[in-house]
Amino acid sequence: MEISLKLLPESERRHAVMDGMDSLPFGQLRCDHMFVMEYEKGQWINPRIEPYANFSIPPGAIALHYGQAIFEGAKAFRHADGEIYTFRFNKNAERLNRSADILCMPHVPEDMQMEGLMRLLDIERKWCPTIPESSLYIRPFLFATEDTLGVKPSGKHIFCIMLSPSGPYYAGGFNKTVTLLITEQFHRATPGGTGAAKAAGNYAASLRAQEFAHSKGAAQVLYLDATNTYLEEVGAMNHFHVLRDGSLIIPEFTDTILQSITSESVLEMLPNARQERIKLTDFVAMVQSGEIVEAGGFGTAAVITPVGRYITDAGESYEVGDGSIGPVTRALYERYTGIQKGTLPDTHGWLQKVPHF
Ligand code: PLP
Ligand code: COI
Repeated sequence: MEISLKLLPESERRHAVMDGMDSLPFGQLRCDHMFVMEYEKGQWINPRIEPYANFSIPPGAIALHYGQAIFEGAKAFRHADGEIYTFRFNKNAERLNRSADILCMPHVPEDMQMEGLMRLLDIERKWCPTIPESSLYIRPFLFATEDTLGVKPSGKHIFCIMLSPSGPYYAGGFNKTVTLLITEQFHRATPGGTGAAKAAGNYAASLRAQEFAHSKGAAQVLYLDATNTYLEEVGAMNHFHVLRDGSLIIPEFTDTILQSITSESVLEMLPNARQERIKLTDFVAMVQSGEIVEAGGFGTAAVITPVGRYITDAGESYEVGDGSIGPVTRALYERYTGIQKGTLPDTHGWLQKVPHF
């Protein structure tokens, strides 16, 4: 693929804004450039890297009316050798195309996603932060641009990769536990729907539940399945819990749960991690009896977020263990982030070094 480059002169690049910062917000800062290409008449055209700037799209673009839009989230890290490494981006590229199938969008060939990203990261090296708990967050996204008000799959799309040097998703980072709200009032996904896709509309639909959780003093909703029987996931994370015997349980992937790359990695790392369909009534009983000793969420942006307490609409409150971060969660966090940062060996081959083009 021939990627054309329209780059800012060095004097206009803004990475020095990070100088002297000792923490970074999540998703606020923008790198100087982005990777973009268009899809028209059945093919991808005009792949390029250009300054981060507004798009020009028609007001009738399908994404704006009917939400035909998907995205991904991945990370890159600067290691002690000064080089930049991406973490399992091939899995994100694959998942983008699974989401594309669910939303009737064209695939973005995985090698094009990878090459566009690597070229962009090579140009934006200086934006990759070294501040603790920070990384260069990678946001690929695909949205429908055909100008029509008919409800149908778009024939035109834009694929873009933007970058944002970021700190932890939840302010306070790993060292702060969060509270989750168990509610039957809101659902994230239904069987036969788009829950297994990283579809923009899933997140729009989750805002009301998130606001409700905030109003009750919780960070997010613990979503149940549509029958209010089984645990599903959290706003932007899979859910996990740890039993007294040290085993770690993640809800089974169904078509109402996003297949988390963090969860998949944990399942590969820990021999005593497994997936189950988890009944809410069993879960609550096990938290109350002390059989469940730790719990949390898995996701790229939020990494491993420990949960200290569950509350319900009815005002019940269940502390997990003693409400603090448990040893299994802590050890897993240290191991997982150690591999990402290059301080522990990458025995699974999850890291890919950004080439110098
Ligand atoms: N579930 C949802 C709904 C998400 O948005 C995310 C975030 O990407 C995850 C789970 C975690 O997935 P991953 O670990 O691949 O980031
Ligand atoms: C991620 O974890 O990368 C996500 O995409 C979550 C996002 C909604 C902030």
